[in-house]
This record gives sequence, C-alpha cells and structure tokens, in this order.
Amino acid sequence: MHIRRLLPSDAAAFQQVRLRALLDSPSAFGSSYEEEADRLISDVADSLAEGSGRTVFGAFDESTLLGVVGVGRERGLKERHRGFIRSMVVAPEARGRGVGKALMGVAIDFARSMPGLRQLTLAVTAENEVAVALYERLGFVVCGTSPEALHVEGRFYDELHMVCRLGDAPCSTDPAAAAGSASPVCSESTTAKHQA
Ligand SMILES: CC(C)(COP(=O)(O)OP(=O)(O)OC[C@H]1O[C@@H](n2cnc3c(N)ncnc32)[C@H](O)[C@@H]1OP(=O)(O)O)[C@@H](O)C(=O)NCCC(=O)NCCS
Repeated sequence: MHIRRLLPSDAAAFQQVRLRALLDSPSAFGSSYEEEADRLISDVADSLAEGSGRTVFGAFDESTLLGVVGVGRERGLKERHRGFIRSMVVAPEARGRGVGKALMGVAIDFARSMPGLRQLTLAVTAENEVAVALYERLGFVVCGTSPEALHVEGRFYDELHMVCRLGDAPCSTDPAAAAGSASPVCSESTTAKHQA
C-alpha cells in the first residue's frame, strides 16, 4: 500500500469510493448519496485541486484506491489555527487492515507541517465505534455531543465533536504514544462544521 495526495485526475476514483461509502454507511456522513450522486466530475476534480481549501490523501494498492481522508484548515483570521479532518473512508473490502490508521497518520503529519496550526477537529457519529476508537487511539478526545445531529432513514443519530491538540499535547501518529499521554483537552468553541 502507498499513500499520496489525490490530484484532480483522481476525481472519478475518489467519487466512486465516496459514493460507495455513502450507500454502505449512510449514518457515518453528513452528506448523502442522493446529494452527491449527480455531482459533476469536474466539480469533484476542482475540490482536489491545489488551493481548494483541503488536501485529500488516498491509499492505493497499486492503482486501486482503497481509502481517502481529507485535511484542511479554517479560513477565517480568527480560526486559521484550527484544522479539520473530513471524508474519512476505507472501501469495505479493505477495512480492518490498517488502511484507516495509516491515512490518519499521514493526515496528522501533514497538519503538523502547516505553520501555526494548533489543533485538528472532526465530527463522528456517536455509534460509529470503530471510527471513534481509531480517533481516540490517535489522541483525539471528545469535546461535546450534538444530540440528534443527523437524520438518516427515519433515525436520529448523535454526533461527537473531537479535537486533537498538535502543540503540547498528545495528537500522535503513534497510537501507543497517544494513549500514554492523552489528557482531555476540550475547547468550548470547537464546533462540528465538518463531518469526518
Ligand atoms: C472507520 C474506518 C475509516 C476505519 O478504517 P479501517 O481501515 O477499517 O481501520 P484500521 O484497519 O486502520 O483499524 C483501525 C483500528 O480499528 C480496529 N478495527 C477496524 N475494524 C474494526 C472492526 N470492524 N471492529 C473492531 N475493530 C476494528 C482495528 O483493529 C484497529 O485497531 P488497532 O489500532 O488497535 O489496531 C472504516 O471502517 C470506514 O471506512 N468505515 C465507514 C466510513 C466511516 O465510518 N468513516 C468515518 C467517518 S467519521
């Protein structure tokens, strides 16, 4: 497996992985298959271009895209110290093999390279135990809950807001290190504009 930044030329593969995930795990995402299925590939390509506001990494087995994760930073002058993770997806047949953990590691390392970035935020459906456990092992802590944040197929789902401090605290690409030093750091201003 290798991981690299996705380019506009990866748009079709990226869209396919995302649409599969929206069908396979509808409660895991804020967006829906119905809203994204008709999205023009040119728009998807634009979202992968330099300057789009986020960077998407893809994990590949040779040329097959196995999974993706997006990382970006807030744009406002008062919020530019905050980054976010979104669009975390691994194809069903590739799950449980370390792809998600490897993608998150690359995303966290990339976030650390952004000047002035002090924290990463994400939002995750509370019932998504695999994802929550993965984020916690990497040093994310729960900062709050939005009750009934998502309404999917007649059911309401709570959403957890998680944050990982990049400076003095434990966000780490090494789960063991993160677990050993994790201390809850909760920012009241952390909002969940971004569903991972
Ligand atoms: C959540 C998701 C991205 C995890 O990706 P993955 O490649 O399967 O995860 P990994 O193989 O890297 O496993 C990460 C950890 O979760 C554990 N894990 C993975 N699948 C598991 C399962 N089905 N049950 C229990 N634990 C599991 C692994 O053992 C590993 O633990 P470790 O760090 O102790 O070794 C993937 O399941 C997915 O795409 N789910 C659907 C979409 C989604 O929920 N996205 C997240 C939105 S916030």
